[in-house]
Amino acid sequence: MNVHDSEQMEALLMKEGFRITDTDKSADLIIVNTCSIREKAEQKVYSILGRYRGLKQARPGMIIGVGGCMAQQKGAELFARAPYIDFVFGTHNIHRLPEIVKDVERNRARRVETCFHDTVYSIGIVTPPHNGSVSSFVTIMQGCNNFCSFCVVPYLRGREESRELKDIVDEITILASHGVKEVTLLGQNVNSYGNTLHNGADFPSLLKKIGDIEGIERIRFTTSHPKDLSDGLIECFATVDKLCEHIHLPVQSGSDSVLKRMNRRYDADDYLRKVNKLREVCPYISISTDFIVGFPGESESDFQKTIDLMEEVRFDNAFSFKYSARPGTAAEKLDDRIPEPVKRERLTRVQELQQIHTVEKNHALKGMVEDILVVGLSKNSHTDVSGRTKTNRIVNFEGERELIGKTVCVSIHNTYIHSLRGKLFEKERNQKC
Ligand code: 5AD
Ligand code: SF4
Repeated sequence: MNVHDSEQMEALLMKEGFRITDTDKSADLIIVNTCSIREKAEQKVYSILGRYRGLKQARPGMIIGVGGCMAQQKGAELFARAPYIDFVFGTHNIHRLPEIVKDVERNRARRVETCFHDTVYSIGIVTPPHNGSVSSFVTIMQGCNNFCSFCVVPYLRGREESRELKDIVDEITILASHGVKEVTLLGQNVNSYGNTLHNGADFPSLLKKIGDIEGIERIRFTTSHPKDLSDGLIECFATVDKLCEHIHLPVQSGSDSVLKRMNRRYDADDYLRKVNKLREVCPYISISTDFIVGFPGESESDFQKTIDLMEEVRFDNAFSFKYSARPGTAAEKLDDRIPEPVKRERLTRVQELQQIHTVEKNHALKGMVEDILVVGLSKNSHTDVSGRTKTNRIVNFEGERELIGKTVCVSIHNTYIHSLRGKLFEKERNQKC
């Protein structure tokens, strides 16, 4: 979401004549887009801002703005920590960026814009595809009403709001006309899409509509809440051809008592049942997840239940985090904090086990032929191109720039933890591999 917010900021400022610079030293305007999800992310922001102190001293005319979740949370407090910044704008005020920048340029006075609006205008900011990019993000909803006890998002992004179905379809139709082949639908909890619209639109109906847009070949989405993963949505993996065979379904913990205290509103058995249904409907689906270790009160036996669940599901990929107390959340007030060394040790155990599962799953693809949508040149070699399998694995293989935007067959020769290496099988799609 944050990457797409930055793209929206860029699109708004480009319209005003701003251009991206090669280095921050030569910039007239620097925007720092921040995240507050864990304490570590906040520390990173302070260290980035620290670097800009010298830049501002050298060029006092430069304007520095701070946006995103941390800006929403801290507001004017950020001036105390970094007095050289010029403005702070929160998550509901992205659409006002051009006006704020103009005002700061003209009046050279500080501004703080962190109020919430009933309508989140920023969900409707359309970003043109980047430099011939064949894959784009599209926001379909924003905010969250779930209030998981560890999470700061509902406080900083506000209540859930869905974007009108027609606006989403129109944006994707325009993207397709610019050569975009793949869209990733974004929202804090995409499967509750439509709840605020009261017109019958829901996430499965949106997927079907997008599936009909000419030129769009692949649909992805993130993130889903397990409690809202309906049978209707699971069915879409069989009925919407363009829907990629991947779901990111954060489980957070395998212990029912931890899940209860996290206010997740499902238990481990509910989660396992949904995983089984997904695999019944779509046998090759790849499933990734998030884990939090060291939530207050997490006993060794609670933690072991997370390990057991990992062994049972064998996720294709996972992101894992040490619990970080966030200001204003319900979990912040819970006693029985887990000591840092215990959290660290549990994180290592989760990560080591996940590494084994990821390597195993990737290795199983050796010798298979996969459909790859080529999205660009490879980062590591200019004679290679790069793309993804429908199951969201990065594949690099030798090929020319002309392949970008095409879906090609690639045979998988080597597998690593973060990517696969393949060989072009056929140049054109829709031919038998
Ligand atoms: N501490 C640790 N991890 C967190 N996440 C969200 N809030 C916290 C927190 N306070 C993780 C969850 C979520 C992912 C985006 O970030 O796993 O799914
Ligand atoms: Fe946070 Fe839970 Fe909402 Fe996800 S569903 S954004 S974890 S409150």
